[in-house]
Amino acid sequence: GTGRIVVVGSLNADLTIYCERLPQPGETVHGNGFAVNPGGKSANQAVAAGRLGGHVSLVGAVGDDPNGHMLLASVAGAGVDVGQVRTSSEPTGVAVIAVDAGGENNIIISAGANGTLSPADVAEAADVLEGAAVVSLCLEVAMPTVLAAAQAGHDAGAKVLLNLSPYAHIPAALAELVDVLLVNAHEAALFLGPGASVPGAGAHAAQWDAVRERFAERGIRQVLVTLGANGSVVLDSDAPANRSVVFVKPTKVDAVDTTGAGDAFTGAVAVRLAAGDALADAAAFASVAAALATTRKGTQAAYPETADVERRLRVS
Ligand code: RIB
Ligand code: NA
Repeated sequence: GTGRIVVVGSLNADLTIYCERLPQPGETVHGNGFAVNPGGKSANQAVAAGRLGGHVSLVGAVGDDPNGHMLLASVAGAGVDVGQVRTSSEPTGVAVIAVDAGGENNIIISAGANGTLSPADVAEAADVLEGAAVVSLCLEVAMPTVLAAAQAGHDAGAKVLLNLSPYAHIPAALAELVDVLLVNAHEAALFLGPGASVPGAGAHAAQWDAVRERFAERGIRQVLVTLGANGSVVLDSDAPANRSVVFVKPTKVDAVDTTGAGDAFTGAVAVRLAAGDALADAAAFASVAAALATTRKGTQAAYPETADVERRLRVS
């Protein structure tokens, strides 16, 4: 059987305009389509994991409004337990998103109800956290809440996953509690700070091994660095030396909307780790799931099922 996954964090209504190219500061551009979709990094992680067969609970907060109802329906529709999603007097969180013709995006979030999620909510969720195999987090809710969830996950014996997005400085106490950090190259560079160079695509294992060491010095022994269309890199300080840097090759797709690809990756990693996979195997599976997620518009609505991922893994 597979262990349970608890995702603690955000739910947002995504207000997305599709456009030829993203506007510059002070510029207005014409869009060519608009959609309101269920999003939020944590809700996305939960839906991705649910679609891929995970046993998932989401801990979060929404407003008592149409966006909140839409989100609960989407998340529950993926088989995720929403018993710990509280209704707040604040409105449901919102993300204003622009997506260009190449599928690239920029995003502004307004926390709303997500901003009310507190350590007390984490304490309220003790029953679902108890016995969890994986606790999955991001930085769209307050840092004390993230810290409380990481502590509860750690105390329950779960693997604690943190997607370091949107990037923020994290306290050393949180870094100590994180088992697997998920970052893109930009976030990796911000986390390691000036003086640490994070190599680009095509870098050698030795260059990545230096990055692995820098993370380990900061108390983070397992890191997944996603490189967009260039695949990902697994940095594992707990693996034998010849497996401490593993490259995951990219899955070639025609991306139409990359929004939430990182959340699909995180949710898929959570599922595979909860099922007992080794980190590099989980990353290989998740890399395909994230690539497939970019081939359709939206986030949750675009996430693949296990059969889709396995079919693609067989042909590659
Ligand atoms: O990672 C993508 C997500 O970021 C969107 O769904 C949006 O809601 C923001 O949280
Ligand atoms: Na997508």
